[in-house]
Amino acid sequence: MGKAPRMLVRLGRMTRNPLFNGNRLKLGIFGYNGNGPQMTAAPERFVADWPRSRALATLAAELGFEAVVSFAVWRAPIDGDGRHLANREFEAFSWCAGIGAAVDGPAVIATFHAQLTSPAFVAKAAATIDHITGGRVALNIVAGSSRHAFGQFGRDIEDPATRYAHAEEFLDVLKRFWLEQDEFDFAGRFYRVRKGVSLPKPLQTPHPPIMNAGLSDRGRRFATRHADLVFTLLQDQEDSWAPQIAAYRDLARTEFRRDIQVWTHGYVVIGDTDADARAYLRSYAEDRADAAWVKAWVAELSEGMPSLRPEQLIVMRRNWAAGGGFELVGSAETMAHKLIALSAAGLSGFLLTALEPEKMLRRFAAEVLPRLEQAGLRLATQR
Ligand SMILES: Cc1cc2nc3c(=O)[nH]c(=O)nc-3n(C[C@H](O)[C@H](O)[C@H](O)COP(=O)(O)O)c2cc1C
Repeated sequence: MGKAPRMLVRLGRMTRNPLFNGNRLKLGIFGYNGNGPQMTAAPERFVADWPRSRALATLAAELGFEAVVSFAVWRAPIDGDGRHLANREFEAFSWCAGIGAAVDGPAVIATFHAQLTSPAFVAKAAATIDHITGGRVALNIVAGSSRHAFGQFGRDIEDPATRYAHAEEFLDVLKRFWLEQDEFDFAGRFYRVRKGVSLPKPLQTPHPPIMNAGLSDRGRRFATRHADLVFTLLQDQEDSWAPQIAAYRDLARTEFRRDIQVWTHGYVVIGDTDADARAYLRSYAEDRADAAWVKAWVAELSEGMPSLRPEQLIVMRRNWAAGGGFELVGSAETMAHKLIALSAAGLSGFLLTALEPEKMLRRFAAEVLPRLEQAGLRLATQR
């Protein structure tokens, strides 16, 4: 006779979800349901297929990472080149369900655009993944600014104020699906629900964590009001980190009486020396940058920022070719020093990306993680 299946009970998310574990600096990987965010033609780059993305998530789990975060771009903004590999991306909910079933340990974070799905669907999709993973799902809600992604659905993007009002109403309805025990009706500006019901409820109570990376003023208000994990973009000037991170926490606390985690993301290049790491960064992000991809991406991003100066565009293109976000480039010692300083400035977590993420993670595990553990930022994992 086989063992009776174990029924999972609902429990507070602080107990279940590794995003709330005791590590002072949490770690994750980002964007490997697609090809990762590096916009380069370097042949050694990551190209997503299922076995490889599953193996990468397994490696992140072995290192004790807290998060595997998907992205949702749907298609790259490069017109006239449907075969470009940048278009290759697994759908985020399905991919997170698969990763969550195959890999024990990290939270799986599904990314979606509020406007391109519906609260009824997301309530059930997230609850399904939460049951599959024993309470490890989280959601990254995007308010939606990509014309090309929206074009896949025959939709136009909304102006920034409307898009965040839309996302806000989305979450109000989503939470009702998660929290209400009885049928409910809803009639708002963007959504109508008649006799709404969603069962099973997610395992995590009160509901799975929400992540958001709004950077504009409106986006930051939305993030600090609704998200448990808020993303910010940090520059290389160390003295700017603490005030910038504190500003998010203060806004959340004073305006919305909430405690939040503040995370960032960035590209990692580890070298024997800082100069080695910089040389490799230059070789993939400058010499071998995919100019068409970077140009199209930055053009779409900057549609809402008409006042960008040409020199700012150059910096943005270089940053995106490298992988976007914070530059974590140098020897293991330099890298550990930066991560320790970021944590001291109040940062809760860092999503890592790299051209060859498996190689980076192995080296990170051998040379950087032990330094973070010694500094008391993370508990040692058995590797
Ligand atoms: C770590 C991170 C992940 C993101 N993931 C996505 C994504 O998968 N799809 C997307 O369209 N936008 C994504 N974004 C964009 C943000 O949701 C947000 O729209 C952007 O940072 C600009 O902020 P704003 O909307 O306030 O202007 C991401 C941003 C960050 C920093």
